[in-house]
Amino acid sequence: MKVQNHPAATKAVDLAARSWFIVAVIGQMIFACYVLMLYWKSAALGDFEKWNAASSHFYVKGDLLGNTIFGLHVALAAIITILAPMQLIPQVRSYAPGFHRISGRIYIFSAFLISLAGLYLSWIKGSVGGLEGSVVITMNAVIIMICAFFAVKNAIRRNIASHNQWAVHLFLAMSGVWLFRVFLMLWIMAWQAPVGFDPETFTGPFLNFLGFMVYVFPQAIVAFYFLAKKSEVASTKWAFSGLIFLITMGTAQGIVAATMGLWVPRM
Ligand code: HEM
Repeated sequence: MKVQNHPAATKAVDLAARSWFIVAVIGQMIFACYVLMLYWKSAALGDFEKWNAASSHFYVKGDLLGNTIFGLHVALAAIITILAPMQLIPQVRSYAPGFHRISGRIYIFSAFLISLAGLYLSWIKGSVGGLEGSVVITMNAVIIMICAFFAVKNAIRRNIASHNQWAVHLFLAMSGVWLFRVFLMLWIMAWQAPVGFDPETFTGPFLNFLGFMVYVFPQAIVAFYFLAKKSEVASTKWAFSGLIFLITMGTAQGIVAATMGLWVPRM
């Protein structure tokens, strides 16, 4: 029988990770509602002009290809946001393995498709944020596709431990654009002003820094999570738990700010 070292610290790691996950899922469901209410509903009603509620160039009259790709992007945004947490809940995996496999295939396929559609929107259709914004979001697309590739490769080889690790990396990568909105709104709420970037062009040093913090840094946090779980050193476990506790507080406040400032007004 395996003797567990530092049970309190081990519990803290688990509790910290679960707390962040629960807060994130609540926030992501609000984001999914926003996407459904704004983009899906207006598409179903044929009111495509409403797509421009967030930015005036999402629906461009006559640009069939651009509008279709944007529509595909936001259609997938709702699907993946709803499916993602279910892939990670162990009870769903053990009681409904068939569902896990089918929704996993849809999720991985969508991860590639939403990234490719996003790359088209950034580099061909044109987006706010200019060249630097496109470079920053491209990092997200590349990270998503790498994680999706390894998650599926390990699933096919029945290398379940590695598959699980890549699935968590993928979840965080897929949460990048959501985290961007949450922490951007937290920043604006804290300063009560758009500090460190130009709100007209949506460019500036803060946005580049934020892009790195939400697209790249979470991958290091996931690696730290698996390290803290395995570690025999109590201080490593406590350090991880403390960090995640702070991030959870920030995430929760950011969700409130994004819900009130971005999503509810446009629904
Ligand atoms: C993987 C999860 C993703 C989700 C859930 C998602 C969701 C969304 C949503 C909802 C919008 C509409 C804007 C809004 O209402 O907030 C949007 C726009 C956009 N997304 Fe994504 N997206 C994801 C990934 C990506 C990736 C990987 C890229 C880039 C390669 C990307 C590039 C874009 C671009 C360029 C726009 C238009 C922004 C503009 O023109 O200003 N997205 N996305």
